[in-house]
Amino acid sequence: MADSPVPAADIFDKHLSSFARALTDTGPRPFYRPMAASGGEALVDGVRVVMTACNDYLGLSGDPRVTAAAAKALVEYGASCSGSRLVCGTLPLHEELEARLAAFLGCPAAIVTTTGFQANLAITPLLGKGDLVFSDMANHASLVDAIRLGSADKRLYRHSDMADLERQLATADPGAAKLIVTDGLFSMEGDLCRLPELTALARRHGARLVVDGAHDIGLMGAGGHGVAEYFGLPDAVDLYTGTLSKCFGSIGGVLAGPTDIIGYLRYTARPVIFTASMPPAAVGAALAALDIIESEPERRTRVLNLAERLDSGLRALGYDTGGPAPRTGPATVTPIVPVHVGDAELCARLWKEILDEGVFTHAVVAPAVPVGRALIRLSLQATHTDGHLDRILDAFTAAGRRLRLIAGTAATPQPRQASDGATAAAPSAGAAVSQGAAVTPVAAPIPAPDAVPASVPSLVTPLIPAPAPAPVSAR
Ligand SMILES: Cc1ncc(COP(=O)(O)O)c(C=O)c1O
Repeated sequence: MADSPVPAADIFDKHLSSFARALTDTGPRPFYRPMAASGGEALVDGVRVVMTACNDYLGLSGDPRVTAAAAKALVEYGASCSGSRLVCGTLPLHEELEARLAAFLGCPAAIVTTTGFQANLAITPLLGKGDLVFSDMANHASLVDAIRLGSADKRLYRHSDMADLERQLATADPGAAKLIVTDGLFSMEGDLCRLPELTALARRHGARLVVDGAHDIGLMGAGGHGVAEYFGLPDAVDLYTGTLSKCFGSIGGVLAGPTDIIGYLRYTARPVIFTASMPPAAVGAALAALDIIESEPERRTRVLNLAERLDSGLRALGYDTGGPAPRTGPATVTPIVPVHVGDAELCARLWKEILDEGVFTHAVVAPAVPVGRALIRLSLQATHTDGHLDRILDAFTAAGRRLRLIAGTAATPQPRQASDGATAAAPSAGAAVSQGAAVTPVAAPIPAPDAVPASVPSLVTPLIPAPAPAPVSAR
């Protein structure tokens, strides 16, 4: 007798089931909200709020010099090259930008890619069979995916734990070719990589070091050249990857390093060869931004100064801006200021309360951070005013009191519409502290660093209790 056929599961239904409630939900959602942001503010649902979720650290995306350069390139070369760099997508502007970025990073050569994500994926040809790649557990998803796509054996080390890395290097096959990959400035917790130790370990064990400077190139170091300049180690990095979507206020990515390796990647990296090149307007914008990065160091000083004040203000209120990973290097503060909450649902509630106070933040939950390590991420911009800073601290004061995360009388929420902060609902943070209020740190328990992150659907579950998805390692 023939077996009765097993009905096939519908692949769409299967994957949508855990998303079903999220898709129909009409409640407050931190993600995919349409908005228009500029100058440190944004219009969200018709309400003007302080924007602290955007990575335009130097405030260049709306700078008239940058937008004019983008417009000029757009008119001159059109909206797209409609082809890959390899074939018909290389303009003189791409080559100019590559030469400028190579010089800026102190490297012999550079290649630009269409996004920073692709710049990281483009290291894949270096990850061959039998090779070993050592990766910080907090590295960006694009480095994680580059490793997944490559054929090298993966070794994860605990975030910035140099003893763990050293142990793994010491016990690895001494004959294997080795690569260490790390973010320069970690995107979620705002801490710098331990570059001096990383480079020493790489040299000792014959490994090469790749640093993703997405967040630090343009920002860290007196000239904005990134973590290597910041640590005074100009030769520490063997290959840089980076993005043009943060400090450069544009979109695009970059790899910079030795001429022969950049040449090899030009012909072997699929995210370079099989995709349309960086659009002309984005190249024009990035070139103009680079001029400003080189000529206006005060933007770096301004944003770091604001971050220092925000960090100390939040800590004075009782928030935990440090977290499990110690900030490294003399700069204890970077423009990314995390407020560690721990529990994802509490994080979502805090995010909403802060939005009600007129400040848009970034609620970070798994898989962007490990499960149980949810945080509110604040990123500052050189274009934020002192008034914006006060509004952020006021919002955290009022929201934290309402949720009883910090000491003080719970303030009643008030709608906020003005862009000038005139409708601030709570007393200023400074006032709360100077009244001598005893502060209770946000103290959600923090699980072991290698807790398994959940899959993407968990991004929405804090707000909408949907069935738990099967865990998928994001790192
Ligand atoms: C550390 C890091 N690397 C790479 C990327 C990807 O950059 P892009 O947005 O240009 O694709 C990001 C983006 O958030 C990032 O934070």
